[in-house]
Amino acid sequence: PAKKIAVIIGSLRKESINRKFAHEVIALAPESLSLEIVEIGELAIYNQDLEENGAVAPQAWTQFRDRVKEYDGVLFFTPEYNRSTTAALKNALDVGSRPYGSSVWSGKPAGVVSVTPGAPGGFGANHSVRQSLVFLDMPVLQQPEMYIGNATKLLGDDGKVSNEETKKFLKKFIDTYAAWVETNAKK
Ligand code: FNR
Repeated sequence: PAKKIAVIIGSLRKESINRKFAHEVIALAPESLSLEIVEIGELAIYNQDLEENGAVAPQAWTQFRDRVKEYDGVLFFTPEYNRSTTAALKNALDVGSRPYGSSVWSGKPAGVVSVTPGAPGGFGANHSVRQSLVFLDMPVLQQPEMYIGNATKLLGDDGKVSNEETKKFLKKFIDTYAAWVETNAKK
């Protein structure tokens, strides 16, 4: 059966270019992967008081954790905000990492794609996510690196990737990630 991959998008914007690239990558994925977007916009900012010392965790946190647990791997798409990832994506990582000792991320093979209209390709954002994933014990695909710069220029009027070279690159990436999942997924 296909490996189930959670796709997490660090932008909450309706017209997010990260979301557009995520859809493109989902469409290019081989049959060995089944990818689904898991939304993070409803997660309250993490605060230990909301679930410790007898408090019952917000339902959105519990639902998110339960959902992520079902997946074999996680693919992150991140915008770059001030040379780092977004508060929304960092918050999702934090929510999923707790309560202490029951992180939903552990061991899941991951990939990190940064997408930005800027030239440097969101390198800072990409690596800020990677920094957390090291601690969260996720094996993260290293090559090909996915720093997608000048991204608005790669999209057509329909919001789809119009550039053929970029499409080939995205295909190579998702095929390599699929192999990474085969090698590293538990079970
Ligand atoms: C940005 N943007 C940005 N871009 C970049 O390449 N490097 C950066 O450090 C920043 N910093 C930054 C901070 C904040 C607070 C905002 C709102 C934006 C621009 C950013 O790449 C652009 O808005 C993208 O379109 C965001 O991605 P989505 O929402 O289109 O996926």
